[in-house]
Amino acid sequence: MSILITGATGTVGRHLVSALVDAGESVRALSRDPASAALPEAVEVVAGDLAAPAGLAPSIFDGVDRVFVFPAATVDHLVAGAVAVGVDRFVVMSSLAAAEEFPRDRGSASQVHHAAVEKAVTARSDNWTVLRPGTFADNLLSWAPSIAHGAPVRAPYLASAQAPIHAADVADAAAAALLSDDWTRQAIALSGPESLTRREQIAAIGAAIGAEITAEEITPEEFRTEAAAYVPEPVIAMLLDYWRDTVTEPDRVRSGVRDLTGKPGRTLAEWAAEHRSAFLPATTPAAGR
Ligand SMILES: NC(=O)c1ccc[n+]([C@@H]2O[C@H](COP(=O)([O-])OP(=O)(O)OC[C@H]3O[C@@H](n4cnc5c(N)ncnc54)[C@H](OP(=O)(O)O)[C@@H]3O)[C@@H](O)[C@H]2O)c1
Repeated sequence: MSILITGATGTVGRHLVSALVDAGESVRALSRDPASAALPEAVEVVAGDLAAPAGLAPSIFDGVDRVFVFPAATVDHLVAGAVAVGVDRFVVMSSLAAAEEFPRDRGSASQVHHAAVEKAVTARSDNWTVLRPGTFADNLLSWAPSIAHGAPVRAPYLASAQAPIHAADVADAAAAALLSDDWTRQAIALSGPESLTRREQIAAIGAAIGAEITAEEITPEEFRTEAAAYVPEPVIAMLLDYWRDTVTEPDRVRSGVRDLTGKPGRTLAEWAAEHRSAFLPATTPAAGR
């Protein structure tokens, strides 16, 4: 089978490409900059820009059976281009926010964006699978600079509980959906295998680096002020609503990863062990070398 992967150079995409290559599939990867894609040799890397109307040559779909849709700013050109040449099997990476399970989701930055991505596909094809992951474990890398400097983690709502998902589990679920016809016309929620408070998440990182990390609870307003320099306000609002709600209603563990892959998904302890170098102080080269 020949599969076109968009977002192939991203965190989920790299895991997905590896999973499909390991499964013996033929992979074509899209990147705006193929020269720096650094993907496995077996992968054919093609140039393309999802956001530009003329950014995708029709030839990128030659011989393609299935397409993985990364939720870029727009996916309309990709999906329309594929359908125009008869490729109509899509696996879409969306977000749990698109399910609008909670009042906080309606109109949130993530819900609005991912609902549009889903619609771009479901309005053009009946042969889709939508994956809706919740919060990524990789989001916790935002704590890396403080932890690496030995500073306390300053965060609001430390008693709130989420079920962060490893990017490799999103990828494994996507690979399973791409390689099967059992999941068409289904929107599948994905999460990590355990719901942990933010204090427990910090402790998992501490265990991975062999250090006790101090957590300092700050107010939502303090977070808003501190994050304003690097996070857009709609995203800050969405995060604060999410953490506030998951104090009283912790994130539920979803069965999607197990249903699709037959495995429960990687724990946060596994994720933290794999990413421990990000939380350790940078090593300085020895003097004179
Ligand atoms: N963080 C969360 O908690 C969460 C939860 C649910 C869903 N999500 C979704 O997951 C996404 C992040 O996934 P990730 O971590 O794998 O992404 P990532 O590491 O940021 O990678 C982004 C990928 O998108 C490609 N890309 C971006 N704009 C493009 C364009 N105009 N044309 C072609 N390719 C383009 C990039 O390819 P090139 O640079 O090679 O072109 C790259 O491969 C979020 O944006 C969100 O939609 C996130």
